Amino acid sequence: MTLRISVIGTGYLGATHAAAMAEFGFEVLGLDIDPEKIATLTAGQVPMYEPGLSELLLKHVAGHEGSTGRLRFTTSAQEAAEFGDVHFVCVNTPQRKGEFAADMSYVDAAIDSLAPHLTRPVLVVGKSTVPVGSAGRLAERLAALAPVGEGAELAWNPEFLREGFAVQDTLRPDRIVIGARGGRAEELLREVYAEPIAAGVPFLVTDYATAELVKTAANSFLATKISFINAMAEVCEAAGADVTQLSAALALDDRIGGKFLNSGLGFGGGCLPKDIRAFMARAGELGADQALTFLREVDSINMRRRSRMVELAREQCAGGFLGRRIAVLGAAFKPNSDDIRDSPALNVAAQIQLQGAQVTVYDPKAMDNARKMFPGLAYADSALEAAEGAHVVLHLTEWQEFRALDPAELGAVVAERRLLDGRNVLDADAWRAAGWTYRALGRPS
Ligand code: UDX
Repeated sequence: MTLRISVIGTGYLGATHAAAMAEFGFEVLGLDIDPEKIATLTAGQVPMYEPGLSELLLKHVAGHEGSTGRLRFTTSAQEAAEFGDVHFVCVNTPQRKGEFAADMSYVDAAIDSLAPHLTRPVLVVGKSTVPVGSAGRLAERLAALAPVGEGAELAWNPEFLREGFAVQDTLRPDRIVIGARGGRAEELLREVYAEPIAAGVPFLVTDYATAELVKTAANSFLATKISFINAMAEVCEAAGADVTQLSAALALDDRIGGKFLNSGLGFGGGCLPKDIRAFMARAGELGADQALTFLREVDSINMRRRSRMVELAREQCAGGFLGRRIAVLGAAFKPNSDDIRDSPALNVAAQIQLQGAQVTVYDPKAMDNARKMFPGLAYADSALEAAEGAHVVLHLTEWQEFRALDPAELGAVVAERRLLDGRNVLDADAWRAAGWTYRALGRPS
């Protein structure tokens, strides 16, 4: 009999995971406490911009013409508990207010709502990013609360998906990591992931703590790589060197590699910033804080990019923002996403606005989210409209649409042809040739 799978938490991770499980051929029930989210997903719609996800939902959500009907959603924990042989926990672990540590209340609540209804042997699989040591604690909590006791087994299976590539990353991840304590976890998860395993995706089985650490270590490494090149950009700026040429040359050493070596405004989003902070907090609790003091530097370098961008913009405004019009291209924390959580672009836009400029923002997908979070900024329907009458144009999220902008066309509507490229991807020569002053972080003026 094919396995029945429940997915608890239907945000980014959970909605994608549920759809992917249906694509693998399983019967899937998604559970969320938010009835609105459940209604949206049942209608085959996605509450965020994620390429390919809506199509995958419509292919499987019951009730849609031609769908496999393998995917349904509910708000009843009892229904999910009774339905699933394998339960994936996909709720979020945000940063706690006023602290570095992760807020584990949603994960705890997920286990607490599910466990009392578990009357037959099942596997509960955590996918959320958690502080190392959580799985051990939760395994005990699960067995204590479940009527089936130790028959409710726990495994940890960190998720590495990137926003904007969530579907492909879930169907064909780089690797599948399972933290388990023996039992049936490995066997069941080999069955769940039979398709990617058959396609050659490495499947690694570790203890709980190692599996938890793979995720936080991976995100810390990526953040460090970005902050490394941004630190080099600071040195380049002081020395009159060009960080884009530097990173291109470094990238040719395949021990270093070019991925995550693009200097610019730095990282944001719902993962990297909060994950490195939670990692530092957890290391402190474990008495290993010295090992991660470098992450504090990684974080500071990253935050400095934002202030540096504001300074550069001020220089372009001859020292003061009062009465100046600034166009900001980009609001999402990265391209191909409408996610504005800890977005470097909006952070810069808001700082400049607070210092007296009139800031107009345009983003291809993140406008609604940006408007809700920063109602005080002005918004335009296109890059051209945002740039009208601007004294400086700031390119802060590298959407393809912005790379394709025509410098002459934009030059015709601005008050002054001044461009700051916060992502180091625009063609400096082409913009300069069209009469623009082109400046970027870490490059000679
Ligand atoms: C990240 C991890 O990549 C993913 O594996 C994990 O599961 C969740 O966190 P995501 O938050 O979707 O994914 O974004 P990612 O694509 O990693 O980008 C993070 C940030 O780094 C973005 O703000 C991006 O603009 C920035 N970045 C990335 C750079 O500044 N330079 C680079 O070279 C690469």
